[in-house]
Amino acid sequence: MQPHGFWGHVFGWLMDRFNASSHNFAFKRLEVHNSDRVLEIGFGTGRLARKLAKAARDGLVGGVDPSELMLQTAEKRTRKFRKKGRVELKLGDASSLPWPDATFDKAAALHSFQFWRDPACDLVEIRRVLKPDGLLLLLLRTHKKAGPKWLPNPISRSGQEIAGALQLLTDNGFVGTRLEGKVGSSAILTARKAV
Ligand SMILES: C[S@@+](CC[C@H](N)C(=O)[O-])C[C@H]1O[C@@H](n2cnc3c(N)ncnc32)[C@H](O)[C@@H]1O
Repeated sequence: MQPHGFWGHVFGWLMDRFNASSHNFAFKRLEVHNSDRVLEIGFGTGRLARKLAKAARDGLVGGVDPSELMLQTAEKRTRKFRKKGRVELKLGDASSLPWPDATFDKAAALHSFQFWRDPACDLVEIRRVLKPDGLLLLLLRTHKKAGPKWLPNPISRSGQEIAGALQLLTDNGFVGTRLEGKVGSSAILTARKAV
């Protein structure tokens, strides 16, 4: 859940390779403009955050991840952009985002939703920091049956992850909620903060 130690390094290396197609897809789908402010929840090794920062030349990339190892790794990777104030990475999780209301134009969480302890509250928090009409992109690794019991997220454990997440988005003030298809074995969910 929070990569650390030797196996955390191994896990990070694997994520870079196996999640590259998700990162590339998310980068295209987010259609980042020069001045965009983009939030990434659970940024892992920072591979996507760096791509986003390259595109948002006059904007900002913010991110939270509860793993110290992932924070250090992603900070190294985005050093050049952090120096210019274009990237702000913080140790933390989806439930408390240290930015003011309506900071971001877009938000993305790739393969991290399943680890959120309280997804309903977390979505409310994400909605708070999004601007009206701001886009949220979730990539959810799909399970053929119910997910493992050790996952903290009750929706991911239930085997109803996609339907449950779509419902939760609608219940928590997102509009235009859509299942857009799949990238690899991951479902693509999008929604917008109501205007
Ligand atoms: C499977 S990795 C995915 C990393 C990256 N998004 C990617 O696709 O390569 C899951 C990440 O979510 C982070 N994470 C775990 N619990 C979290 C939470 N409650 N909120 C935000 N991120 C969390 C982990 O530390 C880890 O970096």
